[in-house]
Amino acid sequence: MNPEVYISKRRINSIVNRLASEITSDYSDKKPLVIGVLKGSFVFLSDLVRKLDFPLELDFIRVASYGNSTKTSHEVSMLLAPGIPIKGRHVLLVEDIIDSGFSVDFVARLLKKQEPASLKICALLDKPSRREVNTVIDYIGMEVPDKFIVGYGLDCAEQFRNLPDICVIKE
Ligand code: IMP
Ligand code: MG
Repeated sequence: MNPEVYISKRRINSIVNRLASEITSDYSDKKPLVIGVLKGSFVFLSDLVRKLDFPLELDFIRVASYGNSTKTSHEVSMLLAPGIPIKGRHVLLVEDIIDSGFSVDFVARLLKKQEPASLKICALLDKPSRREVNTVIDYIGMEVPDKFIVGYGLDCAEQFRNLPDICVIKE
């Protein structure tokens, strides 16, 4: 497997700058609780929060999804729950990539049960052609075609998370 650069680190930086300024105008007076979805969002989240120059709190959630190619039912389960109470907080959920939408939909439903004051979703990448569950994504870095993406936190069988650019896998 040979990863080929698809979005350079320079371009990623300008995407993250744009998202940070959108988020700043909406949240600078709200002391939001920013929740990253592990593991894929860890690089994006760490770049994003360092561009947010206002008070915020940070937490993580980890989910595993078991896609079933023969059925449209995907099972998602929580492996790590957020530690900071969500009730009454302005929550910003940060994802690496939205594919079918099952994972983010599962997490959003779970968090909403805990009565946040508001809940918005930020995703670095979006593959709209693959969507099966329609969850509103409030901040989108970039739309990508139906290709397997690695690097900048995203993996293929736990490989390539450390690549500084966003790459596509060439067989
Ligand atoms: P969904 O539940 O189908 O939307 O899948 C979302 C999760 O699957 C993401 O949070 C990623 O962790 C993973 N994923 C989806 N597409 C890709 C990809 O192209 N590369 C790496 N991981 C992906
Ligand atoms: Mg993920």
